[in-house]
Amino acid sequence: MDLGIKDKVALITGSGGGLGRIVALQLAQEGCKIVIADVRKEGVDKVVEEIKGLNVEVIGFQCDITKTDQIEAMLAEITAKWKAVDILVNNAAVLDNMAPIEKMKDNLWLRDIAVNLTGTYYITKACFTAMKAQKWGRIVTMSSVAGALGGFGQASYSASKSGVIGLMRTVALEGGRYNITANSIVGGIIATEIYPTIREDMRERLEKRTVFLRPGKPAEIADSIVFLCSERASYVTGTEMYLTGGIHLFTF
Ligand SMILES: NC(=O)c1ccc[n+]([C@@H]2O[C@H](COP(=O)([O-])OP(=O)(O)OC[C@H]3O[C@@H](n4cnc5c(N)ncnc54)[C@H](O)[C@@H]3O)[C@@H](O)[C@H]2O)c1
Repeated sequence: MDLGIKDKVALITGSGGGLGRIVALQLAQEGCKIVIADVRKEGVDKVVEEIKGLNVEVIGFQCDITKTDQIEAMLAEITAKWKAVDILVNNAAVLDNMAPIEKMKDNLWLRDIAVNLTGTYYITKACFTAMKAQKWGRIVTMSSVAGALGGFGQASYSASKSGVIGLMRTVALEGGRYNITANSIVGGIIATEIYPTIREDMRERLEKRTVFLRPGKPAEIADSIVFLCSERASYVTGTEMYLTGGIHLFTF
């Protein structure tokens, strides 16, 4: 199936590793021009080299999505080199703060909201104007089952990932007349590099809650993200795609 996105400019945040890297590789295989953006420079450099090996045009930026000046500088360089961003995958996030609400540290709450929600807002807002002018855009944001349903010990992460769902639905409403779609992915457990850092007994418990008795592979999640980024998903907007392996379903 031709996804109709050859030569589109695709910016993937948090793509210096993990799921973002796989999404970038898959969009590269569809012929997109790729922008790797991550706060970790070594991750950016590594993935840029990897994508160059696919003979695809690629540029990388060390960019912290909580800093509007860094976002603006990055977008100015992309536009000067190619053209405005067509596809934005909001994948960057911090996922390392777990504590029951009484013990949640206020500074970590603020950090999680700043990166996962406000950072996503900043970069979405910055890309929206050019998408509107060119009357085409695709925005896909990584949410989570913790955002859609709540997550024990995850007040800040959950609130930030609920927030992006509301943000995407709103952008879908405001962007529709300009052919901009905006959707969220509700992820469950995804076997990225951080997965083995979760305690083994906890991983086993989580896996048992999926209907497949295993975590999602990053490539399985990326397949659906790439579809939502494509011309083929032109009538899909303002929605959440549940890629949880059934973890959100009720069972006795
Ligand atoms: N792994 C899972 O089980 C899972 C489940 C549901 C949802 N998700 C979501 O999927 C996405 C990717 O997760 P992952 O497992 O690959 O995690 P990850 O930690 O490997 O990737 C996140 C990336 O975001 C980058 N990042 C963090 N703060 C940033 C900032 N301020 N500016 C720019 N980049 C920043 C990190 O450097 C990292 O490369 C996240 O949005 C996460 O919330 C993951």
